[in-house]
Amino acid sequence: MSESKPIPQMDLAAQYAAIGGKIREAVTQVLASQQFVLGKEGAALEREIAELCGVQHGIGVASGTDALILALRAAGVAAADEVILPPFTFVATGSAVSALGAKPVFADIDSETFNVHPDEISKRVTPRTRAIIVVHLYGLAADMDPIRDTARRHGIPVVEDNAQAIGARYKGTPTGALGDIDCVSFYPTKNLGAYGDAGMIVTDSSEINGRLRTLRNHGQASRYSSVEPGWNSRLDEIQAAILRVKLRYLADWERARRAHAAHYSKLLASVGEVKTPQTPEGYEHVFHQYTIRVPRRNALQKYLSDRTIGNAVYYPVPLHLQPIYASLGHGPGAFPEAERAANEVLSLPMFPELQGDQIERVAKAVAGFFAG
Ligand SMILES: Cc1ncc(COP(=O)(O)O)c(C=O)c1O
Repeated sequence: MSESKPIPQMDLAAQYAAIGGKIREAVTQVLASQQFVLGKEGAALEREIAELCGVQHGIGVASGTDALILALRAAGVAAADEVILPPFTFVATGSAVSALGAKPVFADIDSETFNVHPDEISKRVTPRTRAIIVVHLYGLAADMDPIRDTARRHGIPVVEDNAQAIGARYKGTPTGALGDIDCVSFYPTKNLGAYGDAGMIVTDSSEINGRLRTLRNHGQASRYSSVEPGWNSRLDEIQAAILRVKLRYLADWERARRAHAAHYSKLLASVGEVKTPQTPEGYEHVFHQYTIRVPRRNALQKYLSDRTIGNAVYYPVPLHLQPIYASLGHGPGAFPEAERAANEVLSLPMFPELQGDQIERVAKAVAGFFAG
């Protein structure tokens, strides 16, 4: 590949070029069936995703954000309750809590993994804590054993925000089976992405499964019999059919992501300023993002962009410093690890179809920046 050709941070076109024929066939079948909502593709996808996550039930919904709102509602979260979550995440993790009128209580992250620190959670439990949300950021599971111990001790449910880590494992257990209710996003850029918005909740609890099936469909326990205020939040048949095609490739794609990550880490090992992402013993990372920590991050970002190398900062402003949470009164310094991460992280190009010579060019550019 030529030195000057841009390298995108992520590239969906390469995937579509490879599997577009199968996708179009699946969509055509749905069009022929004329069944668009709550049909057999959605039901099959629910079974397949539940199986992948190692739990009993999958409930298709309209987005990862809806999955979080509905999961919290099913966990019993209501106005004035407290929900513990990390501040270093996409805003949807927090706004799902706020959508129910509950109060987000932030717990700082671990500097090595970018995930919520278990000790920070246990410090923040109060009699009003109604749920704990863990986010498996960038494709790496949170440290679940101590988090589950805290939750069990206090009788609090754990909701997994698994928007970024479907297929990842912690001590042999897949994400999705690590808490009480798990929320998946199929946003197009996720490791398993739809061609529009879509999401799923998975759980082992039959009771929560039943409640969520009602909640996502206007609170209807049966047709035209609504037992509580619900939503219209359903995963449509076209998206389900597309996701079922893509699901067949997910393990291969995630294997490719891991190989790319290993390649980057090997090449960047000699660049002292760069801290490459760590995978602790017993974890299986799926590298939704390959995220390094660096000094002079903004200058490196510009340097890469000037050389047509795609890059992104997930996330530049932690939730406690966002205008939406100004009323909580947390100033700079309140969650130092989240703030340090927000200033230092940079995600390099990562998608399954990335080529070895592209990885080499990116790594060379990063090394060149620090050598210069
Ligand atoms: C960590 C995290 N939580 C929640 C979401 C929300 O998912 P969606 O975009 O499907 O609503 C996303 C993705 O956008 C995410 O990355």
